[in-house]
Amino acid sequence: MTFSNIRIILLCFVSANTLGVPRNFNVDYKNDCFRKDGEEFRYISGSVHYNRIPRAYWKDRLLKMYMAGLNAIQTYVPWNFHEPSRGQYNFSGDRDLEHFLQLAHDIGLLVVLRPGPYICGEWDMGGLPAWLLNKKDIVLRSSDPDYIAAVDKWMGKLLPMMKPFLYQSGGPIITVQVENEYGSYFACDRDYLRHLTKLFRSHLGNDVVLFTTDGAGVRYLKCGALQGLYATVDFGPGGNVSVAFDAQRHAEPHGPLVNSEFYTGWLDHWGEHHSTVSTAIVAKSLNEILAVGASVNLYMFIGGTNFGYWNGANAPYAPQPTSYDYDAPLTEAGDLTDKYFAIREVIKLYRKVPEGPVLPSTPKYAYGAVQMKKLHTVSDALEVLSLSGPVKSIYPLTFIEMNQAFGFVLYRTKLPVDCSTPTPLSSPLNGVHDRAYVSVDGVAAGILERNKALTINVTGKAGSQVDVLVENMGRINYGKDINDFKGLVSNLTLGADTLTGWAIYSLSIDQAVSQGLLWEPGSGEAAPPPPSPLSVPTFYGGAFVIPDGIPDLPQDSYIRFPNWRKGQVWINGFNLGRYWPARGPQVTLFVPAIILSTAAPNNVTVLELEADPCTPGHCTVEFTSTPVLNATVNSDHKHQRALFRRDDLL
Ligand SMILES: *[C@@H]1O[C@H](CO)[C@@H](O)[C@H](O)[C@H]1NC(C)=O
Ligand SMILES: *[C@@H]1O[C@H](CO)[C@@H](O)[C@H](O)[C@H]1NC(C)=O
Ligand SMILES: *[C@@H]1O[C@H](CO)[C@@H](O)[C@H](O)[C@H]1NC(C)=O
Ligand SMILES: *[C@@H]1O[C@H](CO)[C@@H](O)[C@H](O)[C@H]1NC(C)=O
Ligand SMILES: *[C@@H]1O[C@H](CO)[C@@H](O)[C@H](O)[C@H]1NC(C)=O
Ligand SMILES: *[C@@H]1O[C@H](CO)[C@@H](O)[C@H](O)[C@H]1NC(C)=O
Repeated sequence: MTFSNIRIILLCFVSANTLGVPRNFNVDYKNDCFRKDGEEFRYISGSVHYNRIPRAYWKDRLLKMYMAGLNAIQTYVPWNFHEPSRGQYNFSGDRDLEHFLQLAHDIGLLVVLRPGPYICGEWDMGGLPAWLLNKKDIVLRSSDPDYIAAVDKWMGKLLPMMKPFLYQSGGPIITVQVENEYGSYFACDRDYLRHLTKLFRSHLGNDVVLFTTDGAGVRYLKCGALQGLYATVDFGPGGNVSVAFDAQRHAEPHGPLVNSEFYTGWLDHWGEHHSTVSTAIVAKSLNEILAVGASVNLYMFIGGTNFGYWNGANAPYAPQPTSYDYDAPLTEAGDLTDKYFAIREVIKLYRKVPEGPVLPSTPKYAYGAVQMKKLHTVSDALEVLSLSGPVKSIYPLTFIEMNQAFGFVLYRTKLPVDCSTPTPLSSPLNGVHDRAYVSVDGVAAGILERNKALTINVTGKAGSQVDVLVENMGRINYGKDINDFKGLVSNLTLGADTLTGWAIYSLSIDQAVSQGLLWEPGSGEAAPPPPSPLSVPTFYGGAFVIPDGIPDLPQDSYIRFPNWRKGQVWINGFNLGRYWPARGPQVTLFVPAIILSTAAPNNVTVLELEADPCTPGHCTVEFTSTPVLNATVNSDHKHQRALFRRDDLL
């Protein structure tokens, strides 16, 4: 490079940034490209959801994305993550979106922002807050006035926060997506999209590029594209790239080609085989996309984890597991893969990738087996789990009616008649959302499961206590069934009678776990139940110490559950998520080192819903250094999939 070249570059830099000449980013319809500060520009972006990664790891993941040769990242903003109850906002800690954007900016990554309000994303209710269902017949993602009022208020909070991060204001955000794959939704309400467009413009101004994303088919773009929003498409590897972009051209005859979701892998469901997509096919299609000069976003570049209760579900009801590894180029734990390096090689053909070593995968440590002991059954711990006590109701109430969004609710009643012979206890189809653990007088009687297990037999005397613990396994995040109420959404029947006279307990399990309340001894030791294939939902606890004298501990780990069947696990009060090795394919849960302590024993609390792993013999959980996400599955429904498109979910 000659001296004069350098001077010109410096001059450009100075004039664009210091001398107040506005930074600009826009669509050039004449030349079919984006323009950044006047220069032709295309982005090669990767999806990373800050809400699926602990804050302490954001920088590591973003640096690895930068080193892969990406010049941008893409993230959703899940509304329900930031407004957990109406009017109560949380942008701190792991929810500190501004910090995340600032990190990306500091590293040199541009941002494609997808603030919804609906995001899909295999996230509970597609990011919409469950409290919207307080209006029973609300039409989500439409001009329904109550929905619009809530959206206006939320966007009135979020978008002004985002404005300083726009490229035009000196920040990293180059484009902002409005809604998400709206053309796949039944409502097809153009007034709603028009309203969102006006709303986004009123907060963000007229300069920012607003866009939509829809499946690469004319039928999706029909209801998804709107004048004033730049229409882009999404499609996975293995198809015909030029045919896919023809669909975009149908809606957008001129301007840059953009694939907003190029699938590097695919999502999982409990009870279905782990999805993988070959590196060769990803590399080949990426090369074809870049060769036609398109902008692209790799979905996901790192999937991360559905910690806590955040996973979503597809319909017919099929919840996603805790891991959102996605077979992405960076693993759930942020580790480098062959796919990462193959993608980097493809990008190298089109743009200079940063030199220097790529940050290594983080080391993992196998802390070994941890002895667990039984603490309390859920039914015995109601005093600490349900501080407000029960709500009495003739018929069952939903989670929302109980003012609870996530987790578990206990429904208690009595057998109205003697059931000396096995008597069917039943729910209608789709009546239990999503899984109900039934016991009679403290003895497990069976499990009802949404659309799958509708009847169990119970025996007992009239007046026996019936406890039905109902688990919310994640709200549907895609399609017409996103109004997904939880709990007993229909009556249960015993023989020919409708069960009535319920005492319904809202449970604050997370609070009780983090305050250590479940570790306190109970009021009386219950006699051990008879050995049985099924046990009542029970808490177990154990602790382990990080060994001394080994450098760089604590490190990340994985936890597995030999002899356990299904439940929820917390470490030091942090809700790691659901485990369900009995169904698969996920067997281990990611344990980020950031939640571990060297100063005190680390407390593991498990709520096991089905089986007592402690009889016979001793029960342990195990910390290992390798993940298992692809065990053989144990399920009656296995729908196989050949293509990687939204159509798979219809
Ligand atoms: C906000 O979210 C952070 C991160 O999840 C959490 O630690 C904190 O307790 C939340 N704050 C409130 C007030 O709930
Ligand atoms: C993609 O489809 C176009 C139009 O049908 C066809 O001309 C082209 O050969 C196909 N490309 C590949 C790689 O199959
Ligand atoms: C319930 O008991 C009846 C009669 O013993 C039996 O035929 C039926 O299979 C049982 N149903 C279930 C779900 O166990
Ligand atoms: C239960 O049945 C009663 C009486 O038929 C009905 O009014 C009520 O809506 C039902 N409850 C649920 C949750 O389906
Ligand atoms: C685990 O629980 C014990 C007993 O309640 C407590 O002393 C300790 O600080 C806890 N460990 C951590 C890491 O919070
Ligand atoms: C699961 O994945 C591991 C690591 O990629 C692989 O070695 C193993 O063969 C896979 N197992 C199954 C059952 O597919």
